[in-house]
Amino acid sequence: MKEYNTIDDFDLTNKTILLRVDFNMPLDKNTLEILDTTRIKRALPTIKEFVDKNAKTVIIAHQGRQGSWDFINLEKHAKALENLLGKPVKFVNDIYNENAQNAIKNMQAGEVLMLDNVRKFENETDKKTADEHAHSDLVQNLYPLADLFVNDAFAAAHRKQCSLIGFTAVLPSAAGRLMEKELTTLEKIIQNPEKPSVFLFGGAKFSDVIVTIERLLENKTADKILLTGLPANAFLKAQGVNLGDKTEEVLSEEGTSENYEEIKNLLERYKDSIYLPTDFAQKANTERSEIDVSQLPTNYNLFDIGEKSINHYKQIISNAKTVFLSGPCGVFENPAFMRGTQEIFTYVANSDVFSIVGGGHTVAAVEQLGLNTKISHISTGGGSLEKFMMGEKLPVVEALKEAKNRFK
Ligand code: 3PG
Ligand code: MG
Repeated sequence: MKEYNTIDDFDLTNKTILLRVDFNMPLDKNTLEILDTTRIKRALPTIKEFVDKNAKTVIIAHQGRQGSWDFINLEKHAKALENLLGKPVKFVNDIYNENAQNAIKNMQAGEVLMLDNVRKFENETDKKTADEHAHSDLVQNLYPLADLFVNDAFAAAHRKQCSLIGFTAVLPSAAGRLMEKELTTLEKIIQNPEKPSVFLFGGAKFSDVIVTIERLLENKTADKILLTGLPANAFLKAQGVNLGDKTEEVLSEEGTSENYEEIKNLLERYKDSIYLPTDFAQKANTERSEIDVSQLPTNYNLFDIGEKSINHYKQIISNAKTVFLSGPCGVFENPAFMRGTQEIFTYVANSDVFSIVGGGHTVAAVEQLGLNTKISHISTGGGSLEKFMMGEKLPVVEALKEAKNRFK
């Protein structure tokens, strides 16, 4: 029995449903066109179910943040959804005032309506409880028009914002299909992963990764941590390895002396569980050339892990039952330096291991390599996934649980 309701717990037929999704999308900076519709595609099962039940679906979503260049209205999102759903999606340039209210009142059974960017509402991002948010104009104006609130915005589940939790105080509420799938899959691997479990970290940032790794090892969620990308460089530096000026320069953009102290402590406590590369691929002029860690420092950029590390990591993965991939192993956008990412990700995808991938760049790498269908679970979450992996409670999930007790 789940602690929150799912849409199986309600009769949706002919109901009016407020559906909160996360359609926050990467946009082209010049044209403001949507670059990737993954998050829309992943919400389709929920929306299709509503349409099939002749429900009226009112979609609430955000794009960007007030003041940022990608803070636009949701007309393009409605069009993109319409194309993917194969059914008209009406867009109304209003969130909760008369135009939005009339648009909802005029809906026919089975129709889909998209309200404007909910972050245009000035109190949307206030950090409040569900009960406090329920007094907002947004909730007060919209909730009387609906029968049910459904939250499918897993990627925003770490936010306490008005449209994400406020309706749960006043309407029967449920997790959508995507939310349900993300939570059940991730709960399984966080609380009870099939062992051994291996977590690979890479990418171009490292300070946030330190505490994530610490929690994963403390909670015994991860048995082994494999490091690539910038996290690997930072951990080697913390061990006293001189990587060379180019790499040190990149690290100095983010690293503080406290970061390196934390890493040292972590390595002392868990040295047998954390694996670092033993070789790298460096960018010597335009060529890829491999260099052992023992040969460092180098004047060139370290852009990928080397062949020995790739093989060692594959061997560790071959004994695993669960593998989590977070971040590419090198600068995979450059064909000369995609080898680490390509070989390890392909190896994971083609094995029988239960594989989970999360984070924008990691998902992009998986797509570029054409491995989507071979990964067991691709999470839509970035920040929310990170919080979840660290064992933190997600406000959206907590609000759904409370709603289950409130509306019995
Ligand atoms: C995301 O894309 O991470 C979510 O939509 C949350 O957006 P935010 O980080 O602007 O709150
Ligand atoms: Mg597979």
